[in-house]
Amino acid sequence: MLKSALNFSHELLDEIVVEGDFVVDATMGRGNDTLKLARLVGESGRVLAFDVQVKAFEQTKFRLEEAKVLERVCLKLEGHENVGKYLEKNIRAAIFNLGYLPGSDKSVITRAQTTIRAVKSLMEHLCSGGRIILVVYHGHSGGSVEKNALLEFMDEISPEKFQVLQYQFVNQENSPPFLLAIEKK
Ligand SMILES: C[S@@+](CC[C@H](N)C(=O)[O-])C[C@H]1O[C@@H](n2cnc3c(N)ncnc32)[C@H](O)[C@@H]1O
Repeated sequence: MLKSALNFSHELLDEIVVEGDFVVDATMGRGNDTLKLARLVGESGRVLAFDVQVKAFEQTKFRLEEAKVLERVCLKLEGHENVGKYLEKNIRAAIFNLGYLPGSDKSVITRAQTTIRAVKSLMEHLCSGGRIILVVYHGHSGGSVEKNALLEFMDEISPEKFQVLQYQFVNQENSPPFLLAIEKK
């Protein structure tokens, strides 16, 4: 069976992230991706994770503590648009899950301007072969504005330096999420 955008995002991480890597979770939410990345980078690696909501921060911290991997992760209660100031060395991978935190305030959503600003900073610090992966949820109010701006931005990325992939089911109802991946050559 074909993989969902979310499952495919994890496969794309599994393929490249190894012990000791430096990686970013741009939208920690309930901490699923943060935990996955913390396990992939191992004890000697580091994860930098962002969210603007206290609920997401606390929930993620709790999950990491429970899994005994908190010391590998630097949690920031801050917008991912500020990621550039924390990137002293190159990253192997970054992941975004765009949209809102399920079960939380639906007006707190990721937005085109800040998402694109974060992606641009991450692209400047990506290792060769490194990937920035975005799972784009766009069925909510405001989602299509972010989706369209992102697709326009992806279209303009230099094919000499990066490969850009879109992975999407085209015959499903209710605006299923799709995946965008930027890989540095
Ligand atoms: C779809 S959820 C993320 C789900 C998460 N990856 C998980 O595994 O549960 C999107 C998250 O982005 C967060 N968010 C919104 N704007 C943000 C920003 N500028 N910087 C960082 N996170 C932001 C929301 O608070 C929300 O928790």
